This record gives sequence, C-alpha cells and structure tokens, in this order.
Amino acid sequence: MSNSPIGLFDSGIGGLTIWKEVVNLLPYENTIYLADSKNAPYGEKSKEDILALSIKNTEYLIKQGCKLIVVACNTATTNAIDYLRANYNIPFIGIEPAIKPAALQTKNQSVGILATKGTLSSHLFSTTSSIYASNINVTEQIGEGIVDLIEQGKLHSEEMTLLLNKYIQPMIDANIDYLVLGCTHYPYLIPQLQQLLPDNVTIIDSGKAIAKQTKKIISELALFNTNTTNIHHRLHSNLNAQLMETFVAPNSHIKIEFADF
Ligand code: SIN
Repeated sequence: MSNSPIGLFDSGIGGLTIWKEVVNLLPYENTIYLADSKNAPYGEKSKEDILALSIKNTEYLIKQGCKLIVVACNTATTNAIDYLRANYNIPFIGIEPAIKPAALQTKNQSVGILATKGTLSSHLFSTTSSIYASNINVTEQIGEGIVDLIEQGKLHSEEMTLLLNKYIQPMIDANIDYLVLGCTHYPYLIPQLQQLLPDNVTIIDSGKAIAKQTKKIISELALFNTNTTNIHHRLHSNLNAQLMETFVAPNSHIKIEFADF
C-alpha cells in the first residue's frame, strides 16, 4: 500500500499548482493527477453536480490504487469533502481558502478573497469565515470567467487583464493588505496580480501548506513509499493532456507521463 501513488484531482489544470508543491516536498512519492477539464469550471455548478463529479474523480483514483487523495480544488473541497471522508475508506486532504492566516495577520483589518461562486457560497467557507474573520472587513469576489480562460490557455490575454482589473479594484479601494487566492487555478496569476496590487499586499495561496499537510498525514499513517528507485508521475486529462505539459515546467529529474483518458 505504501508504494501506491498519491492521487490528486481538480476540475482542470489548476490543481497542478498543488501537485508541484507535493512533488517538491515528497520527491520519493509516486503520483497520479486527474484533470477533469471536460467539466471545468466547477465553480458555477450546483452543489449536487460538484458532489457527483468529485465522487467520479475519487472512484477513478481509487481504481488506480491510490493510497491517499488530495482534493486539489477549493470548490470540490468546500462542497464534497465531508461526503467523501464519510463514504470512502481512504485519507483525504482538502483545500479551504486560507482565510484564517489572512485574518490573523492583517494590520489594516481588511482582506480580500478571490474564489469561485461554489466556494464562496459553501457552508464550509461561511463557517470558517465567521469563526476567523467576523471582526475584520472581508471583500469577497467571485472570479467568474477566470478558470475558463486559464483552461483555454489564455493566461496572458486581454480578456484576463480586463477581468483582473475589475475584480481587484474594489479590494484596493477597501485597503486590503492580504489577498487570499481561494481557487487552485489562481496561483498562475500571481505575477499579474502583483503588478496590479500595491506593494504592501501579501498574496496567500495554499500550495505549500497542503504539501506539508500531505507529508504529515503520510508520516502519521506510515504510508511513505519504500521503493524509491523508479518514481513515476502520471498526469491524466479527459480533455487535453497537452495543455498540462505547458503548465508543468520541464524538469529533467522527474519522469512524467501525460495521457488523455
Ligand atoms: C473551478 O473549476 O471553477 C475552480 C476550481 C477551484 O475552486 O479550485
């Protein structure tokens, strides 16, 4: 079992931002990544649809023999992780928007959160927000259209610049000093966001924290891979595996197999 891969899934290529951190921190683990790009974006779908897709992705990864699943998608985590944990006998790691560290560290008492409609309207998000951020000003913004553009490979397009300007300006007006990225697709936009935001704004994404949590759980459950001679990474997409290749920086030390399924 310990030599089995870590499974990760997302609505598309966004979760590769998490996959990269997991592979960096756990270089002797095999991985399988599932990009459900055919069904992206999840953020505009109903809770029932997000749950059904999360179940489908989970069962795919379980069939591939995964020992642990990282739900590398904020929308799937906030809408489905309780169900998955209750119904499948495998450890799950999920990604909630990092509202807690932002709320604890803000000096301006004002933070921004950019996430999908599915995440911002979820019960899990509103509970976390009311526990940690009830005394500060939180500017919530739905990033409508962003995931679509990223999935189409239009990261540096005019449409993207227009959307980012529109979404970020109210946060600048609210004098935020922390911006929480509540969707795993958004870290690709950090260089563009940094150009738009004042220098005193810190951007928080969850990649490194999720990788650390994955390592902690693998350690606690004694699931470290013991056969470290032939590490294998399989990145599967149900739409366009080639697009994934453009988002994974070439790295001569790791063997990656890209496949459509
Ligand atoms: C989406 O598919 O709409 C975004 C996925 C996420 O929330 O990370």
